[in-house]
Amino acid sequence: MSSKVERSSFSSRLGFVLSAAGSAVGLGNIWRFPYLAAKYGGGIFLLVYLLLVLSFGYTMIVAESALGRRTKKSPVGAFTHYGKDWMFRFGGWINAVIPILIVPYYSVIGGWVSKYLYAYCRGEVTALAGDDYFSSFITSGGKTEFWFLLFSAATMFIIYMGVQNGIERVSTIMMPILIVLAVAIAVYAVTRPGALQGVSYFLVPNFRNFSWMTVVAAMGQMFYSLSIAMGILMTFGSYMKDDVSIEEATRHVELFDTAIAILAGLMIIPAVFAFSGGNPDVLKAGPSLMFITMPKIFASMGFGQPAGIMFFLLVLFAALTSAIALAESAVSTFEDELHWSRKRSSLVVFALMLVLGSLSALGYGPLAMVRIIGMQLLDFFDFLTNSVMMPIAAMTTCLLIVRVVGVNTVAAEVTKDGAPFKRRLIFNFMIKYLCPFFVAIILFSSIASL
Ligand code: PHE
Repeated sequence: MSSKVERSSFSSRLGFVLSAAGSAVGLGNIWRFPYLAAKYGGGIFLLVYLLLVLSFGYTMIVAESALGRRTKKSPVGAFTHYGKDWMFRFGGWINAVIPILIVPYYSVIGGWVSKYLYAYCRGEVTALAGDDYFSSFITSGGKTEFWFLLFSAATMFIIYMGVQNGIERVSTIMMPILIVLAVAIAVYAVTRPGALQGVSYFLVPNFRNFSWMTVVAAMGQMFYSLSIAMGILMTFGSYMKDDVSIEEATRHVELFDTAIAILAGLMIIPAVFAFSGGNPDVLKAGPSLMFITMPKIFASMGFGQPAGIMFFLLVLFAALTSAIALAESAVSTFEDELHWSRKRSSLVVFALMLVLGSLSALGYGPLAMVRIIGMQLLDFFDFLTNSVMMPIAAMTTCLLIVRVVGVNTVAAEVTKDGAPFKRRLIFNFMIKYLCPFFVAIILFSSIASL
């Protein structure tokens, strides 16, 4: 392929930050982070998470975006740029396959959010706050499948029409609204009677709540939330112009993503304490946490219906933009690597979404007896991608940089805009020693925990 079509690039300096932050902020921050923090130790989880974001996450964002900008390729191309044997292809493909496995179950949760939005629009404020509403919904099978289909069809429709620009413009309006609303709800939640106990559970580290699973879960969450270890930032990096500071962009993405996650924690965890009458089992609720506590908050407010509509509308929006980023990267992998047309790639991704997503959508209902390594299907896909595949993907990126590309080449890429590489020593140390070591331990312990 010698005829080079000029690769598209972000038009403004902000393009990379906005797109990376737009893909980073999603269900991971609002739905996944609070339930993991509640389950795996509260403040100690938050502390471990922050340390990981600042060290490991920082290193990976810099590494992936520098690699993308250097090679001007998405993951498979970026790896095979440096070598053709199986190790390079494996590294590229494992990064590229992860979004394909995430987007189906992501859309199942997107479907739950759509269903809640619909129910709020119909004014079912009290019913939604009932104890069994959520469980009877997800065990129903037919209803979850219906909402999942709707959400995935919307995602694929937008991908197919290619109206991404419109979506990006809308997200710059929606994201600020999401923040304002999140602050307002968090303030309301934190001031409920009994909520302070939850605030301190979430913010104050207590070493007695620490376990290895705290680290395993925090690391999986860090990959997921920052959209790293799945090739996405390599693709974004390939669109990044040379005058953009990679370090500065990384800081902005991390700050934004973490701030939203913490706000979501402050909305949800104190409310769990306020509304559960001190029953600690609720903290273990897992994926259902947001869907159980938020309706209780809204039902206790005077203006629960508009608040519920606004909240789920914005969550839906964050979910949709992330699902689009995930599906888009899956589609472009097929386009770039298998040279399929956009239509064919979109159809194949859609077919995969329908099959894998239906398994997850029905996994709490008609397929509840199907368990893989003791997990329900949705939890299994989540575990497989976050706790097994992403650590392996991160390992391949570290090895590629240390063994083949060389840290000095990364430094040359990072300093291309003229600014010095401020955290160069930390970066080198992390990518050479700490990241691979950590990943190996985590991988081992998540497999041993089965
Ligand atoms: N980071 C997103 C979230 O937190 C999920 C996602 C991953 C989106 C990868 C796009 C690409 O929800």
